[in-house]
Amino acid sequence: MKITFSVIKADIGGWVGHSSMHPDLMAEGDRCLAKAKKSGLLIDYHVTKCGDDLQFIMTHVHGTDDKKVHKLAWDAFINCTAIAKKLKLHGAGQDLLTTAFSGNVKGQGPGVAEMVINEREAEPIIVFMADKTASGAWNLPLYHMFCDPFNTIGLVISSNMHSGFKYEVHDVKESKKIVFNCPEEIYDMLVFIGAPSRYSVKAVYSRETGEIAASSSTQKLSMLAGRYVGKDDPVCIVRAQGIFPAVGEVLEPFARPHIVEGWMRGSHHGPLMPVSVSDAVPTRFDGPPRVIAAGFQLANGKLVGPVDMFADLAFNNARQQALDMADMLRRHGPFEPHRLPLEEMEYTTMPQVMKKLSGRFKKI
Ligand code: 13P
Ligand code: 13P
Ligand code: MG
Ligand code: MG
Repeated sequence: MKITFSVIKADIGGWVGHSSMHPDLMAEGDRCLAKAKKSGLLIDYHVTKCGDDLQFIMTHVHGTDDKKVHKLAWDAFINCTAIAKKLKLHGAGQDLLTTAFSGNVKGQGPGVAEMVINEREAEPIIVFMADKTASGAWNLPLYHMFCDPFNTIGLVISSNMHSGFKYEVHDVKESKKIVFNCPEEIYDMLVFIGAPSRYSVKAVYSRETGEIAASSSTQKLSMLAGRYVGKDDPVCIVRAQGIFPAVGEVLEPFARPHIVEGWMRGSHHGPLMPVSVSDAVPTRFDGPPRVIAAGFQLANGKLVGPVDMFADLAFNNARQQALDMADMLRRHGPFEPHRLPLEEMEYTTMPQVMKKLSGRFKKI
């Protein structure tokens, strides 16, 4: 059975500040999606949150970039924004960059990750959702999952993974894409995906069957808006087992927290801390950045789940490490490398400060 798996998310108002999501907004999101399920547009859905981002996880049969499904998400975000305005939540409608729906939420602010799959006999799917970070945050974990035998033993002992994986990498600044065949092109690929502020892994495909293995959101809010509005807070869908890494191999990269951009005012580097859904409430210096993982088994498009994958206490050490890394970086205060490099600040607050002082710079 061919199923489309869509995750569409937006920050449409934080409670309190940028830390969490008000239950009334989630209830309205649920109401809108329940109606769409009843009408037959969706097979199933799950509404959740990661920090101040509202997440719509949906299954249907309409393919990617479907106008009706995207409009459903857009209209729900608009309704939730109205509630956020009434409650005077922080940054009501933050990620909705336009007033009218243009046929696809891509380019309008919300983050989108989608894939069309032939649902297997057993179809485990993990949806990763992050807050206080940027698209590109998935590059390192996606490398470990599908290229690194020290992470994924299946690459060694499972013969159906020996043909490797294809990575579709997007240059988010120049709007170009390239496909790398891994493992033979990992050195070439790492030159690019090791620079996640510019190059994002959009999708991964099995070279055994050509089937899609992973799909992520690569929208860059600051580039769409031409100014800083909030961080991208990306999502990523990963299929597991069979010709793909096992569930535990998909989760394993997050047991070694890596440093991503985001955190306070979207202008810092900080560790990506794996947490349970209920712990995805980033309050310390508006962070540190969080990632949650919702696990589902699909049954004819029905979402059997979620299991809160990072609730496992085996991720406690990773959380402690992330907190120690956070302390170390915080010591730098306004200094790099805690603060983002100038090139990145040019997309945020740097230009205004520069403009104010431009007349005072004298030639040396
Ligand atoms: P079980 O024996 O618990 O099914 O686990 C099998 C497995 O391969 C775990 O990685
Ligand atoms: P969000 O992108 O989660 O809204 O965070 C923005 C911010 O500026 C936090 O300090
Ligand atoms: Mg926010
Ligand atoms: Mg957010």
